[in-house]
Amino acid sequence: MAHSQDRRTPDPVHVASSALGGPGAPAQRRRGDDLPDGVVGNGTARPELIDLDALEERARELLGPEVADYYAGGAEGEVTLREATPAWRSWRLRPRVLTGASDVRLRTTLLGAEVATPIGVAPWAYQALAHPDGERATARGAAAAGALMTVSTSATTSLADVAAARPAGPRWFQLYRLHSPAHTDDLARRAGDAGYRALVLTVDLPVFGRRLREAAHGFALPADLPLPNRPDGTVPAADSPVWTLADVERFGRVSGLPVVVKGVLRGDDAARCVEAGAAAVWVSAHGGRQADPVVATAHALPEVVEAACPTAEVYVDGGIRAGSDVVCALALGARAVFVGRPAIWGLTTGGADGVRAVLDGLSAQLVTTMTLCGLDDVASVPGNTVVPAVGGPR
Ligand SMILES: Cc1cc2nc3c(=O)[nH]c(=O)nc-3n(C[C@H](O)[C@H](O)[C@H](O)COP(=O)(O)O)c2cc1C
Repeated sequence: MAHSQDRRTPDPVHVASSALGGPGAPAQRRRGDDLPDGVVGNGTARPELIDLDALEERARELLGPEVADYYAGGAEGEVTLREATPAWRSWRLRPRVLTGASDVRLRTTLLGAEVATPIGVAPWAYQALAHPDGERATARGAAAAGALMTVSTSATTSLADVAAARPAGPRWFQLYRLHSPAHTDDLARRAGDAGYRALVLTVDLPVFGRRLREAAHGFALPADLPLPNRPDGTVPAADSPVWTLADVERFGRVSGLPVVVKGVLRGDDAARCVEAGAAAVWVSAHGGRQADPVVATAHALPEVVEAACPTAEVYVDGGIRAGSDVVCALALGARAVFVGRPAIWGLTTGGADGVRAVLDGLSAQLVTTMTLCGLDDVASVPGNTVVPAVGGPR
């Protein structure tokens, strides 16, 4: 495609174009286990214990340092990135005994759409850098796990083609403001037409965070990387007018879809979004890639829930790496959680099967932790299931 390099570079940086059409290692082998049917994914999965650290290491080997660091990196001093997972671990579970809970129900609804697990796939850009099948493979993997997938504006597959890859699976479309307001409106409209169930406005990217790892490698997108959702060939947002609260109502009208506002870290902002018509608020620090250092999502979540619920649903992402992190998030009031990098590692190492293995592995951990805590339904995890650890949360 004939876009000029400077207009296509997401940050002032270079990647070897050999990374495009990257590796697709064979699907991971599954190990049988004794989970009751129907509690994980679509009930047919037999998830093995997943070792996310080993998966990340394998993905890094396959991707090479430039792309691996593009995916892994955060902004500035990477404080937000480093603190995300430890912040979940600054809460402690309070297991309840003798509840009789055995069969754990993972099934829930997100804005009315049924999902088999409250663990979804966050939107992330340029998936063809991780695997030749890119977003199509992620879509198939998420659908096999019964999980919701959010497709990025910066996808390397058009929103219609991702929809075709998983006609039955629930999916949302994540919108960035492009240079051209007409293109931005058109994308929102097409998401509605293509059967996406919600429009996710990512509002924490008025400019790009300064990502020093990318600069160190001189990372830039391959010139032939397809970006079909960005027909004007522009990078999102960075030098476009910023969004305002009025856009929440406007894009809902344009798309005909419920609007989820992603990138909220404060209760007062959550209240403003709900007041403006948002159906849901997504607590996120963009995986530590934007403002830094910011409050960890595990610590911002309670005030957002307080401000938004029960009028709107609340979701959270950032550093979720274990079933126990999910239980904490649910206890703190989130209806669902999303993972970014773990899905990247799954896609890189195993395509659709790899994405499914990550989601099923986390869901299996969730089942175990729920059972050990005497809980049997992800839609009703009591707030008193968690307590700050001694000395935390900070
Ligand atoms: C490589 C990468 C690309 C991303 N691209 C997008 C994007 O296009 N749109 C968006 O809303 N968020 C994007 N995000 C943020 C994720 O949606 C999510 O908030 C974050 O990855 C969650 O943290 P985790 O990676 O620790 O799970 C991206 C994150 C990463 C790591």
